[in-house]
Amino acid sequence: MRHLMNPLDFSVEELDQLFDLANDIEKNMPKYAKSCEGKKLATCFYEPSTRTRLSFEAAMLNLGGSVLGFSDAGSSSAAKGESVSDTIRIISCYADICAMRHPKEGAPMVAASKSKIPVINAGDGGHQHPTQTLTDLLTIRSLKGRLGGFTIGLCGDLKFGRTVHSLINALSRYQDITFIFISPEELRVPDYITEMLTEKGIAYQEVIRLEEVMPKLDLLYMTRVQKERFFNEEDYIRLKDFYILTKEKMELAPKDMLILHPLPRVNEISVEIDDDERAVYFKQAQYGVYVRMALILTLLEIHVD
Ligand code: CP
Repeated sequence: MRHLMNPLDFSVEELDQLFDLANDIEKNMPKYAKSCEGKKLATCFYEPSTRTRLSFEAAMLNLGGSVLGFSDAGSSSAAKGESVSDTIRIISCYADICAMRHPKEGAPMVAASKSKIPVINAGDGGHQHPTQTLTDLLTIRSLKGRLGGFTIGLCGDLKFGRTVHSLINALSRYQDITFIFISPEELRVPDYITEMLTEKGIAYQEVIRLEEVMPKLDLLYMTRVQKERFFNEEDYIRLKDFYILTKEKMELAPKDMLILHPLPRVNEISVEIDDDERAVYFKQAQYGVYVRMALILTLLEIHVD
């Protein structure tokens, strides 16, 4: 039985197979419509979510399965003090696979160690968000035709943004990638990540001004400032609008540069950008359904001919 805690839990070859399957699902949705008949997905979300929870549920429903779960800790027995370990033992009796989001880093891993069913980390604190990374990689591969050979700018809250941490980890295994980290001083990418890149000999640059590097980018990954991880409101208010991607700034960007964003968006991308054909963040959310369908099939070891 396999779980997914970190994007590195899958080899590059396994990821290629997963993305091939997701692309096949995209083209041949009816072929998969009954593949999970009789199977149940539990979504255990101790933190708010729109995309991750609902795309997991849509994925299981598209596969002909059923869904159950809770969307906030207050409506589960966590509110009465039940541990994650006990909860997953119970969920294992009710469902075939579980997607779990938790504010505490490592909580889904604790659950996986006690589980009788595959557990998927749907985001743990400021740590990892592997299925968002699968979504991001599928989007890049599908729209750029490759994973590797590009310069990617990651902009915004690189300190607390778990999607950024997972994506850098995952992309560090592909050839010829240059990272440009664009953030205010206070929200720089953690040292353990830059140390990992240095150890692997992967090129990276840290800058504060987005305009300075825009012309060099093949991909721009925007992120919101993670209000829920700040210790004081004053710092959040000071930093929240540090970056706002506008039409003027987009004039500096290459004609084929893609803008990705894990969403939700707050102010960091002006809505006037949404009609720019380089803005692919809503398409990205759609890829999230295909890749989660592929992931459910893979973890449940269901093969569709
Ligand atoms: N991208 C993402 O994780 O969105 P939600 O928080 O809405 O699930």
